[in-house]
Amino acid sequence: MNRLEGLSIIITAGPTVEAIDPVRFLSNRSSGKQGYLIAEVLAEHGADVRLISGPTCLPCPNDVSRIDVESARDMLAAVESELPASVFIAVAAVSDWRPAEFYELKAEKAALSSTLELVENPDILKAVSQHTEKRPDLVIGFAAETHDLLERARAKRLRKGCDWIIANNVSGDVMGGDENAAVLITSDREVEWARATKREIAVKLANAIDATRATH
Ligand code: C5P
Repeated sequence: MNRLEGLSIIITAGPTVEAIDPVRFLSNRSSGKQGYLIAEVLAEHGADVRLISGPTCLPCPNDVSRIDVESARDMLAAVESELPASVFIAVAAVSDWRPAEFYELKAEKAALSSTLELVENPDILKAVSQHTEKRPDLVIGFAAETHDLLERARAKRLRKGCDWIIANNVSGDVMGGDENAAVLITSDREVEWARATKREIAVKLANAIDATRATH
């Protein structure tokens, strides 16, 4: 059962929330389920798991230490302060953009206007992949796509600089649902994981990490 003992793993999960003012925000439909199940399964196998989570309705899995964050910038800061780790898994649906301005007081309708100015958020997966001093041995990202799944995922793996990318089609009921289907893409292989429960997908990922341990 403890085949992942000695492995320290940082996982990001859930959405990020980008505040406009004290009551309004930008976010997305991520439930956090897949990331939490990955954390749960890896901890069951003896890994030391730290889960850096955006707001979700999920309880913290047993034997996992959770750090709660809201924005992408908070998530990046938490990841940076938790490094080093042997494995980093970016499951979070990080908002690509945040409002350029944060209103300290609830903004008047007129002040917000019909166009909200946005600025780009840091890319956490890319930052960890390119970390000069503390890059984990194995960096894993997700590519949630609605179309051209494999091409986009392959390109994403190279662009981000991560070792593995898990391509998953989110055009149906995957976001918020209990099932997922995925393709694990590495530098030398592509393995299809047929539609299964998110827990079964987490088990497949744990098995793949276990199988690669000998080489790290
Ligand atoms: O570029 P895209 O958002 O599709 O990339 C998805 C992958 O990158 C996921 O693993 C996600 O957790 C990670 N990501 C990140 N920081 C961002 C955007 C995405 O870590 N700002």
